Amino acid sequence: MSESVNVGSVDDIPEGEARVVDAAETGTGEDIAVFHAEDGNFYALDDECTHETASLAEGWIEGTEVECPVHAAKFCLKDGAALCLPATRDARTHKVEVVDGRILLYPGAR
Ligand code: FES
Repeated sequence: MSESVNVGSVDDIPEGEARVVDAAETGTGEDIAVFHAEDGNFYALDDECTHETASLAEGWIEGTEVECPVHAAKFCLKDGAALCLPATRDARTHKVEVVDGRILLYPGAR
């Protein structure tokens, strides 16, 4: 199993918000956004939109989807699927677990 990154307490990311874990910590070469979706669960995607340059963490969370703040492409937080244009490539997902109230991110793991 890959190493986990402690993202913080579950209380640190309110529902409907996200936090970026810097590439220096993820070890994947990419910033990763950890989202607290409106189903109460936490999900992680590469932070950069697959369309152009935008931080998905700065987008809008609706249910278990995030809308890019630049051109409004939507991605499924559960599997990274690009749900509408202009994005045509899915976002890469990463495993997230909650253990004893801490959010653990496993960069590169599904
Ligand atoms: S940069 Fe995200 S939809 Fe264009």
